[in-house]
This record gives sequence, structure tokens and C-alpha cells, in this order.
Amino acid sequence: MQKMALKWRRQGRRLGFVPTMGYLHDGHLSLVRRARQAVGQRGVVAVSIYVNPTQFGPAEDLEKYPRDLPRDLDLCRKAGVDVVFIPNDAQMYAGRAAGRYSTYVVEESLSRRMEGASRPTHFRGVATVVAKLFNLVLPEVAVFGAKDFQQAAVIRRMVRDLNFPVKIIVAATRREADGLAMSSRNKYLTPEQRQQARCLWGAIQQARRMVRQSRQPLAAGPLRLRLRRFIEQNPAARVDYIEFFEAGSFAPLNKVGRGAHLALAVFVGTTRLIDNAAL
Ligand code: PAJ
Repeated sequence: MQKMALKWRRQGRRLGFVPTMGYLHDGHLSLVRRARQAVGQRGVVAVSIYVNPTQFGPAEDLEKYPRDLPRDLDLCRKAGVDVVFIPNDAQMYAGRAAGRYSTYVVEESLSRRMEGASRPTHFRGVATVVAKLFNLVLPEVAVFGAKDFQQAAVIRRMVRDLNFPVKIIVAATRREADGLAMSSRNKYLTPEQRQQARCLWGAIQQARRMVRQSRQPLAAGPLRLRLRRFIEQNPAARVDYIEFFEAGSFAPLNKVGRGAHLALAVFVGTTRLIDNAAL
């Protein structure tokens, strides 16, 4: 992969990169379109498909994470992707099973709260694999989704702090017709759970309405409680966290006004879903 990337770059072709864990949906494909736009028709668009074990906790869904490589390759071909990079565990983490892999990238501030609090080693795994993929694919531009808002912020910080020569683009969240953010994990939902999963987008819209209708910023505590009640009306839904923060700094907010950012994680049955939006 590195050799090919070096060749393309010597030829003066721009290289755009979309890292994924596969089981592609239109959210992923919107990032591919954004990458193409960034590098132009003469540029090279690369997608990686790798279910990265180091970002899953011991009790998480690594084994059952959905996979469908033939379908993914077909979607990539149709979307005009030039190269799909599909490394395996032995290549990415040689010696890890034998305890002989020991280098990780740890972002120590933005990755502590929200997803990081619920999933303590998650962002270490994400930052490490993205750093490795950047070194393998050597992109000029990489595109991430706003769906994983905190992930995008951690990657931006890593790129800045470690001087990766990569421009990071963050593309808008793609949603189903009823507002549910597209996600590979939506496949886990039963039809009843799928109905109830609308509550994440419902909560975002409710928060937006309340913030827009109020003359002053709203106290975060009562607003959080209202949203929790709204979500947990659905028998399959259980809130993991609801956080209000300033989008640039991630500083938590006690008062929630227009422009504040809301992020939430909700279990629907055993499936953990996340979403976020500016209010
Ligand atoms: P994955 O969940 O496959 O997502 C790959 C990329 O697609 C991420 O940048 C994610 O934010 C984006 N994405 C997912 N759903 C989206 C949606 N509905 N709208 C827009 N973009 C969406 O995120 C990962 O994989 C991994 O952590 C990875 C970065 C590949 C590292 O292993």
C-alpha cells in the first residue's frame, strides 16, 4: 500500500482517504464523494476496510460486528473508489496475540469524556489504528463523519499534535428518512427496536425546540432529565449519557443555549447507538 501511495504521489496525483470498518452504507459513501471532490478526477480515492480489534472493549461486539466484503467491494466500485485497502490482524498488529505489540497513540484530553468514559480504551485504539493507516496509505486528505463527532475531534488533535501532513475533512451525518443516523450497527436492531431507535433523533429535535423557544439559556440538569424521560418512554431504550458541551473545546455546559452541542449514547436493547448535533 505504501509503495503504491508513494508512486501515485510521485506522479503528482492527490490522495484522498476514507478509513472504515466496512459494512458500508450511504454515510460511508458520502465520505467517498467528499474525498473525490477534494482530490479531483485525476486524484486517487482510497478506502480502508478493517474491523480494528484495539478499539473494542473486552465485552463489546468485535466478534459479531457485521461484515460483508463482496457487497462492500461492489459499493466501492460503483462509487468510483480507486483502491480498497483490506489489511488483516496479523499485518496490522504483528505479534499482538503473543504480547509483542506495545506501541499505541493516546490522546489525553478530548478522549476522556463521553465515549471515552463509557469505553475507556476505545480512543487509544482509534488513534493508534488511524495513525497506522495514515502511515500506510500516505493520504493528503482524509475524510471522517460528524456522526462520530468526538472521534473526529480526537483525530484532528492527533494530527495537529503529532504533525501528520494530512488535511482532515469532517462531513455531515447521513440519516435515514425518519432521522436515525446511518450506522453499521443499526443492523443489530429488531423491527420493534428499530422503531424505538428513532428516539435519539427525537431527543435532538426536542432539545432544539426547547432551546429555540426559550429566551434564556436552559439549565443543563433539568434539560438532561427531560430528554432522558423522553428517550426512556421507549421500553427498549436506556440512556448511557446525554452531554451538552461547547463544540470547539468540548467544555461541558451548565447553561444550554443556541449553538451548544448535544451528544448522546443510548442502548436500544443491547445495541449501543450514538448521535450528536448542534442545537
Ligand atoms: P466506521 O464506523 O465504519 O465509520 C467510518 C467513517 O464513516 C467514520 O468517519 C464515521 O464517522 C463515518 N460515518 C459513519 N456513519 C456515518 C453517517 N451516518 N454519516 C456520515 N458519516 C458516517 O469510525 C470508524 O469506522 C472507525 O473508528 C475508524 C475511523 C475506521 C477506525 O477504525
